[in-house]
Amino acid sequence: MKAVAVLPGKPNSVHLREVPVPKLTDQPHPHVCRIPEGRAVLVKVLQVGVDATDREINEALYGNAPPGGEHLIIGHECFGQVLEVGEKVTEVKPGDYVSCTVRRPGGSLFDRIGRNDITSEEVYYERGINLCHGFLTEFFVDDAEYLVTVPKGLKHLGVLAEPASVCAKAIEQAFLAQQRLQVWEPRRAFVMGSGQIGLLATMMLKLRRMEVHTLATTPGPHRKSEIVEAYGATYVSTRQISITELARRVGKPDLIFEATGHPEVCFRSMEVLAHNGALIWTSITGGHQEVSLDAAKINLEWVLGNKLLVASVNGNRRHFELGLQALSQGELTYPGVTQRILTHPVSGLDRYKEMMRLLEEKEALKVLVNV
Ligand code: BGC
Ligand code: ZN
Repeated sequence: MKAVAVLPGKPNSVHLREVPVPKLTDQPHPHVCRIPEGRAVLVKVLQVGVDATDREINEALYGNAPPGGEHLIIGHECFGQVLEVGEKVTEVKPGDYVSCTVRRPGGSLFDRIGRNDITSEEVYYERGINLCHGFLTEFFVDDAEYLVTVPKGLKHLGVLAEPASVCAKAIEQAFLAQQRLQVWEPRRAFVMGSGQIGLLATMMLKLRRMEVHTLATTPGPHRKSEIVEAYGATYVSTRQISITELARRVGKPDLIFEATGHPEVCFRSMEVLAHNGALIWTSITGGHQEVSLDAAKINLEWVLGNKLLVASVNGNRRHFELGLQALSQGELTYPGVTQRILTHPVSGLDRYKEMMRLLEEKEALKVLVNV
């Protein structure tokens, strides 16, 4: 079968290769964890979403091949259909639509209690990203433990299960951490960035009945601003109004969800957060960048305001379920809006070059491969 892979460490090495079709008895990542007897599931891949992580892996900024080989099959946002299950699998059956979690457990205490998304080890094992092969292929096998059922009525959004899990986890983490305040009812949120994560976060915060302002550079109207507004939030171009000016006009936000991928915005966001507020960082920023800011002022305001910074990455199965619940509720509340995120479908794994090229394009909100 075909697979899209890179040679980690070698920039621009994305290529198509022939790999064996997996069998139910295979161990896909024996160097990390083993599928218990009878618990394997064979999945036919239908769609795979790609994002900046895939682009940066191809730029050789990070990513590693599984031990013993030179290539890494990429792709971590998967949507597929179950073909075959082991005799001890009760959670899914052939024909079911599924997504699959990304991270596999290492050896820390958190990994051992099923929280590999918050492993305390520096090395993490992620399908399609680090040390485990991904989903940009025709079939894969994994432990039933890592598969998440996508409701049939949501199959048109199934490819967003992974990014939705990342958003749902990050928001839940902030709410859990804010229990330090005994009561926290955030009313105003700023979402920084209008990529897929920014848009899904906009939807999830609107579903929590917050006043949401989504900030990005390019002035609207355009597809992103329309999606933001269809969710009932306001779209703000930072070319027209700065973050500080917006906070002056509408009030400081109780929650900021940062998802721009720009380190400067992560830190600028610290300047406008309301007292007792929470700032969530989700951007994965490759490379190096220095920023100059008034550290004394930020420190003073953060201490006097009891402010909180929460950084969040990845999502485990429960977060996928939360993400899918939010996608479902979003679909009922704002019918047809979320599918507008899926802007650039590419048909077939052999179009991998076009897939990578589209990832560079600004209008390509979401690039996905129809396998
Ligand atoms: C993925 C996460 C992953 C993170 C770090 C993101 O693109 O969506 O699942 O944990 O990269 O590798
Ligand atoms: Zn990702």
